[in-house]
Amino acid sequence: MMELLRAPLRFVFDRAEQGLGLIFPPEWNPMLNLGALGFFFYWIITASGIYVYAFFDTGVTQAYDSIEYMTHDQWYAAGVMRSLHRYASDGLIVVMLLHFIREFSLDRYRGVRWFSWITGVVVLILVYIAGITGYWMVWDQLAQYVAIVTTEWLDHLPIFGEPIARNFLSPDMLESRFFSLMVFMHIAIPLIALILLWVHLQRVSKPRINPPRGLAIGVMASLLLLSLIHPAVSQGPADLARVPGTIGLDWFYLPLYPILETLPGPLTWGGAGVILVLFCSIPWLPPMRKTPVAEVNLENCNGCTRCANDCPYNAISMRVRSDGLPFESEAVVDPSMCVSCGICVGACPTATPFRRASELVSGIDLPERTVADLRQEVEKICQPFKGKNRILMFGCNHGVSMSGLKQENVRSISMRCIGQLPPSFIDYVLSKKFADGVVLTGCSENSCHARFGARWTDARVARERDPQLRRRVPRERLRVLWAGRAGRDKLDTLLRNFTDDLAALPAEKSPVHKASERKKLMELADG
Ligand code: HEM
Ligand code: SF4
Ligand code: SF4
Repeated sequence: MMELLRAPLRFVFDRAEQGLGLIFPPEWNPMLNLGALGFFFYWIITASGIYVYAFFDTGVTQAYDSIEYMTHDQWYAAGVMRSLHRYASDGLIVVMLLHFIREFSLDRYRGVRWFSWITGVVVLILVYIAGITGYWMVWDQLAQYVAIVTTEWLDHLPIFGEPIARNFLSPDMLESRFFSLMVFMHIAIPLIALILLWVHLQRVSKPRINPPRGLAIGVMASLLLLSLIHPAVSQGPADLARVPGTIGLDWFYLPLYPILETLPGPLTWGGAGVILVLFCSIPWLPPMRKTPVAEVNLENCNGCTRCANDCPYNAISMRVRSDGLPFESEAVVDPSMCVSCGICVGACPTATPFRRASELVSGIDLPERTVADLRQEVEKICQPFKGKNRILMFGCNHGVSMSGLKQENVRSISMRCIGQLPPSFIDYVLSKKFADGVVLTGCSENSCHARFGARWTDARVARERDPQLRRRVPRERLRVLWAGRAGRDKLDTLLRNFTDDLAALPAEKSPVHKASERKKLMELADG
């Protein structure tokens, strides 16, 4: 059921990501920077808000006048700041909603990810409340409309002794205290949201909270340009003696107001309740399948910390050695934070398929599919692999689909994340002549389902991050493609070209393992 909802959304996001990829360099793609853009908008809102607040007067008549002064008399500074404040707030809604829907479409909200999801839902609500109080403070006709519809809606709840909508019945009933309350809420709620955003990121390591500089400059320049050519203006002073005529509605923060105004209160409250419960229960809706989390095997852990450094979800910590082995520390997995991506396995120096002397047990492993299982799969899938230019492809469950491959010279193994593959497997496949070439593929660049699988794989292959792919591995026999689900054409082209390239290579020499090398490897593997 959920998949029926997710699949079309994923299709749209994949195409949008692909389309934007034609305009932006991969790391600038806005679709891959939604969270970071959210923070960027937040900082613009804060800076412009502080400036505007310096000129804002709280009071029934002063509020509108002070904003008019900013907009018209000081249009070049406070006016621009007001517009920036407005447009960055709209931008925040756009990127936040896209981020929200995208995380859902990518199935990144279940299991241990419930934490980011639920804190995200609360932030979403707080951002809306903050925006609505902002519109209220201007005290123009739109504010009057917002005030009346909101208070009448709130009055359907039996929580206020007296109906609060009464404050807006006539001019003499409105007090400046109400404005002070709005100002307080408009400052306090974003602050609470910021604290929650910090909580939101507690379970992801190295979160990307700043967009790339070029993208940030582009966004800032666009907002400035928009502020200059289309400044934010008020819609005539509020007048409680009159019912506001036609008003321009803000479609970012207030799209539901016409519904609140027209439908009966119990129905709208009921609807809001159902949507809230649905949003909050989404992480626990079926299908619920808990994949076993990563497990440490202390006998094989030398405390090197690589797994802890590479885990994208802060699920591994290092603690003082507890088993008497002569190492300083040992890895410990927190099961409540592990998404079972396997990236830690790919990082572990003991997860090498070359180990033959003893049973292949690595320092850290996924019980559902261990390194030993993976080695067995490689050997099995390549056993009857005859012919020329044989390619073994390692891919991930979330990247480009590898099913229905036409080329007879290609076999594939799919994993939870490509980051699960220790680089020594590439060496193993090529040096043992299981295949003539290896392809690594997965989610598109900067869009890895498990956040760092593609990035760490790139760095390991480029020998910039441990465990490094050994120098002796012939790079001309390796191809890497980060293409995402929409990249099947790219994969087919790469496989065709790679086949031709392999055919053009001189015949390979016999396996490169010297006895001394092999011994060194075993020592390293056994810690
Ligand atoms: C102003 C609002 C928000 C901001 C600035 C924000 C920012 C971020 C950032 C920076 C990340 C880390 C991304 C990365 O480095 O991979 C993140 C992750 C996440 N966000 Fe948000 N977020 C916001 C609202 C939301 C909302 C409304 C939801 C959904 C209800 C949500 C759901 C998630 C989830 C599920 C993750 C974890 C993704 C994963 O497990 O890889 N966020 N957010
Ligand atoms: S499986 Fe993934 S989330 Fe779990 S400990 Fe390993 S790297 Fe971290
Ligand atoms: S990478 Fe392997 S050896 Fe290193 S600390 Fe983690 S489990 Fe231990």
